Amino acid sequence: MRIVLLGAPGAGKGTQAELIVEKYQIPHISTGDILRAAVKQGTPLGRTAESYMSKGELVPDDVVIGIVAERIQEPDCTKGFLLDGFPRTVVQAEALDKVLKEKRQDLDAVLSLEVDEDEVVRRLSSRRVCQGCGKIYTATDSAADEAKCEACGGKVITRADDQPEAIKRRLQVYKEQTEPLVEYYKKAGILKGIPATGTVEDVFGRVTSTLDQIA
Ligand code: AP5
Repeated sequence: MRIVLLGAPGAGKGTQAELIVEKYQIPHISTGDILRAAVKQGTPLGRTAESYMSKGELVPDDVVIGIVAERIQEPDCTKGFLLDGFPRTVVQAEALDKVLKEKRQDLDAVLSLEVDEDEVVRRLSSRRVCQGCGKIYTATDSAADEAKCEACGGKVITRADDQPEAIKRRLQVYKEQTEPLVEYYKKAGILKGIPATGTVEDVFGRVTSTLDQIA
């Protein structure tokens, strides 16, 4: 299955992605995770990306398109993939269509996680992540309180772009540049709206019933 996860910052893409890739055994391609890893390693890509990410701006299209175009050529992607956080602009969506067309492939579904703005602000303000493995927590989780990851023992921190000003800007950027993709994929006939409120398990239940129908 070739799937895109679409949704506002904090809609729960990363949380659902972890569960989806485990159940359907496909690689998880998160442009946010790839860019954060580059920032942590201090690579030239990371140095470019950091200046955009910390302010809540999008990294330039050509940079992320190059990363994804290369990643989906890897052998593990022959069985499909889950794109999380890409595409994020119409230019990126068109580039993805082009790469897939060259490979004579199509996307099977675009899952659009639907949640209102108050809820995403609440979620992002209380999100914590493991600096080591990227595991996502909320501030009320016991591991987050102890500031130690239950999976790898790494340090649990607040993401630099989860500060109030950056959250505000990310939501603006989402509305201006990413929300048009809902219409783009609706027109393509592959958009599946998923109400993303309720527990993580509730949302995952909706995701799997949608994906099982497609499979
Ligand atoms: P990225 O890492 O993709 O961030 P994002 O899209 O802003 O999404 P988030 O990771 O903030 O949220 P999420 O939807 O994954 O929610 P999560 O599951 O963590 O991108 C970061 C930056 O990188 C961008 O701003 C940009 O600069 C750059 N970038 C990345 N891709 C790019 C691209 N294609 N083009 C250009 N630039 C790009 O959940 C959030 C919180 O809610 C967690 O605490 C979680 O525990 C909690 N939660 C989840 N589900 C529920 C639920 N059902 N109920 C209650 N709480 C829940």
